[in-house]
Amino acid sequence: MFDDLDLSSLARRPGVKWSRAEPGVLPAWIAEMDFPPAPAVQEALMRWVQEDLGYPSWDGRPEQIPLRAAFAERMRERHGWVLDPGPVREFTDINQGLQAVLRVATRPGDGVALHTPAYPPFLETVTGMERRLHPVPYVLQDEGWVFDAERLDQELADGGCRVLLLVNPHNPTGRVLRRQELEAVAELVRRHDLLVISDESHSDLVHSPHRHIPFASLSSEAAARTVTLTSASKAFNVPGYAAPSRTSARPMCARPFPARRICTASPTPSV
Ligand SMILES: Cc1ncc(COP(=O)(O)O)c(C=O)c1O
Repeated sequence: MFDDLDLSSLARRPGVKWSRAEPGVLPAWIAEMDFPPAPAVQEALMRWVQEDLGYPSWDGRPEQIPLRAAFAERMRERHGWVLDPGPVREFTDINQGLQAVLRVATRPGDGVALHTPAYPPFLETVTGMERRLHPVPYVLQDEGWVFDAERLDQELADGGCRVLLLVNPHNPTGRVLRRQELEAVAELVRRHDLLVISDESHSDLVHSPHRHIPFASLSSEAAARTVTLTSASKAFNVPGYAAPSRTSARPMCARPFPARRICTASPTPSV
């Protein structure tokens, strides 16, 4: 498969990855692969394009949105996480989902704790929405990147933090948190009464012996305070497949907090 890639045709690609690369440079700065999407993904997209690109018939009939049950089934099958498809919502991309959740669950001035280094758009979203950023650095030690629960506790104890934006598996370190570490996080967020926004968009790229554990699957208490954001863009290599429409079949947000707020998106939310 690797040998099928041809540098001269890659260099002619119009996407941001290759079109901005200087001649002779191999761009590796953005999270997308050079392999084409899997044949099953290509076939499904082609069928959709050829059959019907009209407005879907789901308005007022959310139970007919096929993505929600498919997402719940996939989570059950892959991670043993059983969730109700009812509160699953679709967004154009992860950052849009994050913005929607921050908008309904926090106010300007509220604190948002986030592991750093971080996916840069998350930093821009938090500060651009006038929420206070509480960076919690991952620390590089002999055994690899270490999650610093004590530092997180300190940041949270400073007060005013409403949200923990958890990125697990973590980009850019690649760290996958173990159950014990996730349980330590769950205990902290319970103690500080936080909403957890859990970006799990890299979960399909976890390899044995590591295992992805959805934060919301830890316990019913964790699930009740968690909004999970996930996306097909990484594992299925379809990052540009986003349509500016709420029916876009990409990232999903499971278990809104509380469910009604996400749907109604009140301009002056108080959670
Ligand atoms: C941690 C993290 N979350 C979200 C995204 C964006 O995902 P999407 O393009 O599916 O919205 C990225 C992209 O690199 C990322 O690294």
